[in-house]
Amino acid sequence: MSIDPVAFRETLGNFVTGVTVITAVDPKGEHVGITANSFSSLSLDPPMVLFSVDRKSQSLPVFEAAGCFSINVLSDAQKDLSNCFAKSGTDKWAGVPRSTGQTGCRLIDGALATFDCTTHAQYDGGDHIIFIGNVVAMNSSKEARPLVFYKGAYNSLSEGAQ
Ligand SMILES: Cc1cc2nc3c(=O)[nH]c(=O)nc-3n(C[C@H](O)[C@H](O)[C@H](O)COP(=O)(O)O)c2cc1C
Repeated sequence: MSIDPVAFRETLGNFVTGVTVITAVDPKGEHVGITANSFSSLSLDPPMVLFSVDRKSQSLPVFEAAGCFSINVLSDAQKDLSNCFAKSGTDKWAGVPRSTGQTGCRLIDGALATFDCTTHAQYDGGDHIIFIGNVVAMNSSKEARPLVFYKGAYNSLSEGAQ
């Protein structure tokens, strides 16, 4: 079976994900962030997570040089932030309320959860690079609800969902 790229994307869209903004800072102090739904848990012991970055992403050189990254799991009140960090070539950080995590990467205020990571490994993943991180610090909010991505559109969990 040959896999048509458009149909592949559409078929992948059946898998419901959350939405994250993943940040990094390189040794020169340049901060980047991209919207990503490729985030996944990997290992419980030791605690590890992974995500992948498109080879065409302008932020890729910073992720490769950083040695760390922070995952910000967005709440359903942060759709605008998701759109902002999904656009290349703009000043993504203007007016974004944030703090600095243990690794030096930026954490976004109001995120549902954050994971501060040191980069464990980078692997070839076709047109993406896979980053694996060791989690060194984390935080989570009890009140906020997740921003959901399904079939190419944002969504949120209904009130009754458990
Ligand atoms: C919901 C959503 C999920 C995304 N997931 C990823 C991802 O996992 N990896 C990735 O490289 N880009 C992903 N993108 C696209 C990037 O956010 C986008 O290409 C961004 O502009 C890259 O910024 P940069 O070129 O400044 O690095 C996603 C976009 C959206 C809206």
